[in-house]
Amino acid sequence: MNESPSLPELIDMQIRTNGPMSLATYMGLCLTHPSKGYYRTSDPLGTKGDFVTAPEISQMFGELVGFFFVNLWQQMGSPKAFTLLELGPGRGTLMADMLRVACRAEGFRDGLDLRLFETNPALIAEQNARLEPYEPKWISDFDKLSAEPLLIVANEFFDALPVRQFVRAEDGWHERMVGLDDNKRVFGLSPTPIPMSAMPEAVADAPVGAVFEVGIASGEVMSRLSKAVAVKGGAILAIDYGYEQTQTGETLQGVRRHQFADVLEAPGETDLSTHVDFGALSTVAANAGLMVQPLTTQAAFLQHLGINERAKALAVANPGSASDVEQARDRLVSPQQMGTLFKAFCAASPGLVPPGFAP
Ligand SMILES: C[S@@+](CC[C@H](N)C(=O)[O-])C[C@H]1O[C@@H](n2cnc3c(N)ncnc32)[C@H](O)[C@@H]1O
Repeated sequence: MNESPSLPELIDMQIRTNGPMSLATYMGLCLTHPSKGYYRTSDPLGTKGDFVTAPEISQMFGELVGFFFVNLWQQMGSPKAFTLLELGPGRGTLMADMLRVACRAEGFRDGLDLRLFETNPALIAEQNARLEPYEPKWISDFDKLSAEPLLIVANEFFDALPVRQFVRAEDGWHERMVGLDDNKRVFGLSPTPIPMSAMPEAVADAPVGAVFEVGIASGEVMSRLSKAVAVKGGAILAIDYGYEQTQTGETLQGVRRHQFADVLEAPGETDLSTHVDFGALSTVAANAGLMVQPLTTQAAFLQHLGINERAKALAVANPGSASDVEQARDRLVSPQQMGTLFKAFCAASPGLVPPGFAP
């Protein structure tokens, strides 16, 4: 019996047949190919996987995000029916910690319609195991959300979406492509330049050789969800590594088993991600009519929400865990660790005052 081709074989066949592919097409195949993509085949999270995320470091992260959403829900008049949507919920840890806190508020559980947007069957099973009591439903189409107010959370989701890369040359911008040289995957440039005028103002003065990343998929997701929130009322909270203003710079990285890895080697087995252009996402959300908060760091966001007090309370409740709690707190907020690399972004209906974004 013929074995089906592996993902590297499929990618190489496609390049031989159709010519070099854009980086976005390559990333899309690597990450979400229906049967062989990185986010389709296994659970990449945790110490045994490729990386550890904030909710997996400590329950404090999810609890404070839960408090954030209860506060917004109360500001909205505690609607009797509302949708809480998580993008890329991983193992369901963030949502489980959020809901443990949020459902203490009277009326929150009764009004909750929990929706999850996820591509990975193994992670869907884990989400189901953790979140079953809240009766989650998985969605694949944002247009099918109900008319209720909409609260959205995304931790380390936008960095996992494909980007296009453009390299500045004398005659304009050339798209970076993935091709084959002597049967080895290599980067190259599309021969056809894209005129300078087609690129944003922010990169107009970029020198020859500069790299510009465009998150088309991120912009599309943010646009659809911002329009939905603008109509129904609500907010979007995204926490991720990223930058405030659209700018040049290459941020694409590969990670395998907690080590940096070549992005062209081992497609489907390597996590590929980029830093999120929060400047571009802010523009999209503002154009849809939402109020965008000034971008803040994960450290400032969690500290405003009370992570130091929460850590003390946990340590008092369980003195044996005090040093683990302190280590986790430090990992989430220290500038040497996740504290300033990760940013908190919030776009909300005008009139709402999202907590954690105090000036
Ligand atoms: C880096 S993990 C973060 C998981 C979780 N939010 C956390 O903080 O632990 C990215 C998540 O987004 C999901 N994901 C990635 N690309 C996706 C896509 N195109 N559509 C839906 N989910 C996606 C992954 O399966 C995973 O659950």
